[in-house]
Amino acid sequence: MVINIDKVTKSYRVGSGFFLHGKKKIFALDDVSFTLREEEILGIVGESGSGKTTIARCILALTKIDEGRIEIQGRDIQSASRKEKKDLRSRFAIVFQDPPSNLNPRHRVKNSILRPLLLRGVSPQEAKERALEAMEKVKLDARYLQSFPHELSGGQQQRIAIARALVLRPDVMILDEPTSALDISVQAQILNLLLDLQKEMKMSYIIITHDLNVIRYVCDRVVVMYMGRVVEMADRNTIDQHAKHPYTKLLLASSPVLDPKDREDKRAVRWERRRMSTSKRPVT
Ligand SMILES: Nc1ncnc2c1ncn2[C@@H]1O[C@H](COP(=O)(O)OP(=O)(O)OP(=O)(O)O)[C@@H](O)[C@H]1O
Ligand SMILES: [Mg+2]
Repeated sequence: MVINIDKVTKSYRVGSGFFLHGKKKIFALDDVSFTLREEEILGIVGESGSGKTTIARCILALTKIDEGRIEIQGRDIQSASRKEKKDLRSRFAIVFQDPPSNLNPRHRVKNSILRPLLLRGVSPQEAKERALEAMEKVKLDARYLQSFPHELSGGQQQRIAIARALVLRPDVMILDEPTSALDISVQAQILNLLLDLQKEMKMSYIIITHDLNVIRYVCDRVVVMYMGRVVEMADRNTIDQHAKHPYTKLLLASSPVLDPKDREDKRAVRWERRRMSTSKRPVT
């Protein structure tokens, strides 16, 4: 599914009119344009507050834009009717930035996964089948469906959040900082999982991150944002050589390329494998 973002501006009024300066207008997005192509993995990278989550919210029409146009398969999402918005949204799945906000802490995993399906009118039997299929896809034992979120590790919670998105069978998955809360070896597992799923299910991804290594590892193209503006747009392979904007250069300098032959990295991966194999032992 193709998304075309054309000269989008979004501002917020912040502060209170009570104080001397009154309300201030801040531009979360300032003249932002880019395209998501069919079956593409697009990375959005940028420092905190640069407008990454805001752009995701605008694509899903969860918030109104001031100016510009967002087209999904040629259809302007902002001016779409309520029903059309609902239909378009049903082709997206979003994994939120903050892992706990993906899962209700008081509900068993099973309920968190099934609820969005049942709300969309899927029969309970089919919903259950899809949940089991999704658990298999994210390589988690079905017994975790009975768990509460606090009983799971960070990596398992993130797998569940992805499973919850997968059951919706989306065309586009938006992942807001999918790995920032995880340690480096679990990050690699989740990224590999995302790559496998994308190939298998032919989805497009928008991966929001402030980690350039995530971009280097999984994305086809990258959009670099800085203070609400797109300051760079490049293919994964060319960003390292052709970065022009000072912020991109700074980002590249502060995020060295991970070396798979590095001893420390290897040790972390070995340790994590051991931990995962112990945790897979049946509970007696
Ligand atoms: N509902 C809101 N009301 C007022 N200001 C907002 C609102 N949502 C976002 N902002 C502001 O818009 C700017 C962009 O926020 P956004 O959440 O998109 O940043 P981000 O790039 O996702 O940052 P992070 O990496 O920290 O998640 C910030 O300055 C933020 O304070
Ligand atoms: Mg954010």
